[in-house]
Amino acid sequence: MAASVWRRVQAAAGRQLRLPRPHSRSSGSSVGAAPVADGSEEPGHYALVEFSGKESIEAVQRASTIPGLQHECAVPFKSRFFNLRNNHLGSQTAIHPSVLRLKQSVISLNELLQNISGAESIDEQLYTVLEEMQLTEENTRLRFLVCSLLNEIAAAYFPECSIRPFGSTVNNFGKMGCDLDMFLDLDGISGRNKTKPGGAFSVEYQTKRVASERVATQSILSVIGECIDQFAPGCTGMQKILNARCPLVRFSHQPSGFQCDLTANNRIAMRSTELLYIYSTLDPRVRALVFGIRCWARVQGITSSVPGAWITNFSLTMMVLFLLQRRNPPIIPTLDQLKAQAAEKDVHIIESHDCTFASDYKMKSSQNTETLEDLLQEFFEFYGSFAFNKMSINIRKGKEQNKPEPSPLHIQNPFEQALNVSKNVNQTQLDRFVRAARESAWILQQEGLKHPKAEPWGFSALLLPNSQTSMGKSKKRRRQPASERIKNLLDSLKANKQSTDNLSRPNGHQKIIPIVR
Ligand code: GTP
Ligand code: MG
Repeated sequence: MAASVWRRVQAAAGRQLRLPRPHSRSSGSSVGAAPVADGSEEPGHYALVEFSGKESIEAVQRASTIPGLQHECAVPFKSRFFNLRNNHLGSQTAIHPSVLRLKQSVISLNELLQNISGAESIDEQLYTVLEEMQLTEENTRLRFLVCSLLNEIAAAYFPECSIRPFGSTVNNFGKMGCDLDMFLDLDGISGRNKTKPGGAFSVEYQTKRVASERVATQSILSVIGECIDQFAPGCTGMQKILNARCPLVRFSHQPSGFQCDLTANNRIAMRSTELLYIYSTLDPRVRALVFGIRCWARVQGITSSVPGAWITNFSLTMMVLFLLQRRNPPIIPTLDQLKAQAAEKDVHIIESHDCTFASDYKMKSSQNTETLEDLLQEFFEFYGSFAFNKMSINIRKGKEQNKPEPSPLHIQNPFEQALNVSKNVNQTQLDRFVRAARESAWILQQEGLKHPKAEPWGFSALLLPNSQTSMGKSKKRRRQPASERIKNLLDSLKANKQSTDNLSRPNGHQKIIPIVR
């Protein structure tokens, strides 16, 4: 990630630390975390303690001991995660009831529905969803702390390496409970960006040679994965997924509850993280709509936390960005427009792919005044009738293009342009998405469900099983004469077996006319 954007990301997460319950984030080594003592080692009570200097951490480390266990043996690894043991069981002296504990858990659907029921507009509902679901500052800090724990392990082999988070932890679209994507950066060692001195002689390190960069990545990740598995406190369930297109090791960090993916040699994903971050800052509607759509997709079972043939959050985000580029006037620029404003420092060519875009794009205040409610409706209508059978989504151009290959859903990778970021999605999953989008477009068009007096109303109505909302409540309305297109839409909802292709227009999308407006 370019230094300027990193600074902004880190500054955003480096605000004054409030007292956490389980998690927090640090960009450096001046932070330690410790389960709070209560004598029982009850899981889930953690404090993140920020020190003003490294020497204080060293003092804590000097005062700490490797536990002596009766029936097991502790691997003598000194990290910055500690247990604080209450040596006076039964005594309350170690517990400070005045310590403020901030909620750090994932909000339940019921709680979310309750919290948005009091809102006065769909826009307010969506901003509340964003507030409730986004990563807290403490959680982000803890993510950086976990990276630094792993960094200490990797540094045993590669002293100049660094492990950095990417993906939703830092792209501004992270929700509580999202995985922790990490990147082992060896560029500092490999001297990839270093220019060679001229002259008659030069000195090179003697190195082991392997067939390709991929082979090197696989063996480095394998060894570091092994070390994490054996020595890193709290890291369990190591899986080595080294034959994937992007080799990775996956494990969980139990004290924080994070599902971790560690990759190496993944600079393009770092760059797409930075791109999403830039987009997230251009207009406040971007984040609110992405969070709303991600939340909707999860509740509808369109996305999942386990890998499979379903749409990923990354693909969904690209779909939202594409929609916002297609509005008239547009809400965000295309990637080509971002590239046109790039300064010299923004030029990035990675593995011959042009990953250049402006890191401080000067956004003219958008002429677009659409509300989030309008945009939510547009999202469902646009994708409810998009010609997925023929067209590809392309945020570089901000225009749909002919599909270069027959995958059901084609979203062009913004940097590796020959690739499809949603290649994993099968026709069944795409059909489910399209059906859900059409149903939601239809629900939102029900005038009665748009007002806080209705129960459930607005965005809440999209987060409930259909029987509880429009399909159940509006039988009466459905008997009224509807426009021909809406009638077709309802017929298509009944004909679940039909392929989505049959209902799409060959070029672009079909506008759905509201029943009542
Ligand atoms: P959640 O983890 O679901 O919250 O979102 P995420 O954005 O972190 O997605 P994920 O963990 O699946 O991937 C991490 C990052 O890898 C993404 O943010 C992208 O930057 C990148 N990425 C994911 N999938 C692809 C892909 O298919 N192609 C490319 N180029 N990058 C991808
Ligand atoms: Mg992720």
